Amino acid sequence: MKEMRTHTWIDDEIDRLDQELKRDIELGSLSNEELRLKWTGRKQGLLKSAFDEMMTRATTVEEKRAVGQSFNLLKASVENRIAIGEVSRSQRGMLDVTLPGTSQRLGAEHPLIRTSAEIVSVFQRLGYSVALGPEVETDFYNFESLNFPPNHPARDTQDTLVIAAQDAKPLRDRLLLRTHTSPVQIRSMIDGPPPLRLVIPGKVHRNEAADATHSPVFHQVEGLCVDTNITFSDLKGTLDHAMKALFGSSVKTRFFPSFFPFTEPSAAVQISCIFCGGKGCRKCKHSGWIELLGCGMVDPAVFQAVDQRRIELGREHAYDTGKISGFAFGMGVDRIAMMKYGISDIGLLYSGDMRFLEQFA
Ligand code: PHE
Repeated sequence: MKEMRTHTWIDDEIDRLDQELKRDIELGSLSNEELRLKWTGRKQGLLKSAFDEMMTRATTVEEKRAVGQSFNLLKASVENRIAIGEVSRSQRGMLDVTLPGTSQRLGAEHPLIRTSAEIVSVFQRLGYSVALGPEVETDFYNFESLNFPPNHPARDTQDTLVIAAQDAKPLRDRLLLRTHTSPVQIRSMIDGPPPLRLVIPGKVHRNEAADATHSPVFHQVEGLCVDTNITFSDLKGTLDHAMKALFGSSVKTRFFPSFFPFTEPSAAVQISCIFCGGKGCRKCKHSGWIELLGCGMVDPAVFQAVDQRRIELGREHAYDTGKISGFAFGMGVDRIAMMKYGISDIGLLYSGDMRFLEQFA
């Protein structure tokens, strides 16, 4: 026959806790969170300390089992009652439906992302596809394959942030933060044969002190076109069109000789000053022109490095310098965004200051 359970000190204690919880809920002076903390908090909750005390007081195995069972029941009901208590409290008038609601503020696209997307779409309309690559890059992709040999002074033009403790690796495998988006040119060519028309947006890093026009992190949009019979005129026509699409059809472009290890010949592109129309002003240092990007014809040494890697990976020889040619260009998104929106300090783009960002909503 089943033994009748008699009322014990355990039941008294549980009843006492039960009453106290009831009072706490009805009083309504504690929020749900505070109630939970007070009662079910893992370290200092009332349930935990009462349980510990009762377990110490219980002397027999039966008593300990009874304490455990009663507590399990109590604990399960506490959460429920706290939740229900909240509903009934709000029904008692704590919810005033005539008050204005809590407004959810809608985010807006960051000016850098917006500018980058705008540049990308100009090239997408010309049939370019978007390619992306990693921000943590190897020395091989960021420098060596782009014809910056180890120790070559051209490396000094892109002061680099490197990942620590990699001396055991061969130089070409060491990791760094990419200093430009050009390594994605290499990755894309190793991935697939020509023809290629790619536009490559992304974040890049350089070891530079921050001032009004420099930031150690900034953004670029890169372009790459590889096919048969691609000439410097194609490059000029493409960029002239792109600058007109971005800044207005009255903008003019001009090309100056420049140097990049991975393009030959290389050029710097200037546009007629969008502020004064070319007459000369403070923004263009009274020259009438603003330098905006670097470009050039892909250096045959780059095609050779790509093909060598393709062969190592068991892919076919696809970048025969006798048959194909190409052009590449790269531009700074931050500077273009600053020009477009009249931003005088690049740091604002990275500050996360809502008073600045709100203006773009
Ligand atoms: N990667 C170069 C830079 O960051 C820009 C560039 C890209 C120049 C492509 C030529 C061709 O300075």
